[in-house]
Amino acid sequence: MMTRTPVAEILKSESAAETALVQGWVRTKRDSKAFSFIEINDGSCLSNLQIVADATLDGYDESVLPLTTGASVSIEGKIIPSQGKGQQWEMQATSVTMLGEAESDFPLQKKGHSMEFLRSIAHLRPRSNLFGAVFRVRSRMAYSIHRFFQERGFLYVHTPIITGSDCEGAGEMFRVVTTAGEEIKLGDDEFFGDPTYLTVSGQLEGETFACALSNIYTFGPTFRAENSHTSRHASEFWMIEPEIAFCDLNQDMDLAEEMLKFLVSDVLESCAEDLQFFDRFIDKGLIERLEWVRDRKFERVSYTEAVELLQKSGQTFEYPVEYGANLQSEHERYLTETHFQCPTTVYNYPKEIKPFYMRRNDDGKTVAAMDLLVPGIGEIVGGSQREERLTILRENMKEHDLQEDDYWWYVDLRRYGSVPHAGFGLGFERLLMFVTGVANIRDVIPFPRTPGSADF
Ligand code: 4AD
Ligand code: MG
Repeated sequence: MMTRTPVAEILKSESAAETALVQGWVRTKRDSKAFSFIEINDGSCLSNLQIVADATLDGYDESVLPLTTGASVSIEGKIIPSQGKGQQWEMQATSVTMLGEAESDFPLQKKGHSMEFLRSIAHLRPRSNLFGAVFRVRSRMAYSIHRFFQERGFLYVHTPIITGSDCEGAGEMFRVVTTAGEEIKLGDDEFFGDPTYLTVSGQLEGETFACALSNIYTFGPTFRAENSHTSRHASEFWMIEPEIAFCDLNQDMDLAEEMLKFLVSDVLESCAEDLQFFDRFIDKGLIERLEWVRDRKFERVSYTEAVELLQKSGQTFEYPVEYGANLQSEHERYLTETHFQCPTTVYNYPKEIKPFYMRRNDDGKTVAAMDLLVPGIGEIVGGSQREERLTILRENMKEHDLQEDDYWWYVDLRRYGSVPHAGFGLGFERLLMFVTGVANIRDVIPFPRTPGSADF
């Protein structure tokens, strides 16, 4: 049997071909007396391949006439210059086999379904133009992230998903229990001896590896039991967490900016057709904005300066701006969309609103934290220089009501060859929202998990 050629390859090819085999799903079909036009899509690219099947073909009545939207087919034929406008190549079929018919209630018959409806058919939505494009970009960005770090000598570390520690100290974790027996086991019957949770971040374990291998990154799923019903929070999301030894906050901020520019530049180049689709149907002006992010210098501003800017803005915010309070999404968006009009890093936050592991600054009031904010979303990256001084780390832990015993191995890193080190976490889905213009995090995740919803 011939091997299948992806539609993307056919549409890019330089010359006609005597024979090719394509396989995919029917998007539309039009029958006339003498022939049928079939458009198929195999997910390799946004475009469909147009196929002309003459009514004189062997088996036309059995395999071409019954084809409806959603059916799967295998088609052999000649690749010839396209008669119509739009694309260069089409196929003149020599044989058509229907692999699986689509029942008449196939839900993706027409365009213009709501995003909510498409979420309710998460198993079929990858067959739509939008979700095909989103998940091609998701795949490419995962690849580009590995490329970015691997090309710079970072080692990929797999940190555990089941853990006993609450890195961010927010106490919003999913507990791990077994289903052995009828009763869910808690307390004395703990499977691992001590209580365990699904990780909220691989950072603490990542630090142990950075303090041996110097430059590392993690890339995996993280879980947060925050009851946030926003378009930017998911209960299960993926995070990329580089951790760098012999590194301070400035170098950390440089790396985050360089990474974002690299990823934006790569998506513009590698996913051009999909981005054009987003620009046209999802977020007008997307490409121009991404080009701008790729080419322009970002801004940096301290938390203290940011608070002053916001207070002087004359803007009314839902949440008041006060020194010592967390910046809300509306504040972050004002900074990036109205004031600076470009991605902006805010650094040196008050220590009270940040986790125990961040390095205390000489002012005694702030820590060496940084958040990279982008227009349309707000925080996309959160990071910091880590507290490498044993005595101060111990003080921080006390202030945060943490038991040193629970983090003895983390503290050990400060006892044996401690080094300045820093890192950050990039929310993978926030990145995808940023580069696709898709407004809800649920629509860049294959099977989203959010409070009240874990279908499929
Ligand atoms: O700012 P966060 O909480 O930082 C950390 O977890 C650090 N341990 C990272 C580090 O320094 N290694 O989370 C990092 C990023 C956020 O900037 C955001 O993009 C994303 O993770 N994020 C979420 N994305 C989707 N849904 C949620 N519930 C998210 N919470 C955080
Ligand atoms: Mg954060």
